[in-house]
Amino acid sequence: MEMTLTINGQSHKIDVADDTPLLWVLRDTIGLTGTKYGCGIAQCGACTVLVDGRPARSCTLRARNAQGKAITTIEGNQGRVGETVIAVWNELNVHQCGYCQSGQVMAATGLLSSNPKPDDAAIDQAMSGCICRCGTYVRVRKAIKQAAEQLQSDS
Ligand code: FES
Ligand code: FES
Repeated sequence: MEMTLTINGQSHKIDVADDTPLLWVLRDTIGLTGTKYGCGIAQCGACTVLVDGRPARSCTLRARNAQGKAITTIEGNQGRVGETVIAVWNELNVHQCGYCQSGQVMAATGLLSSNPKPDDAAIDQAMSGCICRCGTYVRVRKAIKQAAEQLQSDS
């Protein structure tokens, strides 16, 4: 099936099977390997990207259903919120093995884009689907709070 996807602001014309998940297109067809495969059943969050600014699990989202939408991966996570999140992530050394972290960063970017001042409950709700086998949850929460403060003081 031929389709055109807009990924990180660039248009990509591709031809893949009708039921191909977006994650396969990102990694195998386009070569954007920052988005990871964890479970394949929308349970771990490793494959999280933004679709029209909202976090989505690219392992279960069919690529065909992302046509006409703005897809953002970790490689294209630019702009004020995305860049602040990444800077704080690096400053606090949030990552450990790193495998889950692109999904964590994209989920955090989606959260702070829609809710600039999330409380603990909002953070828990937004991030609960992002599993980290290294247990970086405390640093993830700290980084989200710091990014939120930084974004507010900059505005
Ligand atoms: S790989 Fe998509 S949620 Fe786990
Ligand atoms: S940093 Fe290793 S799985 Fe999260």
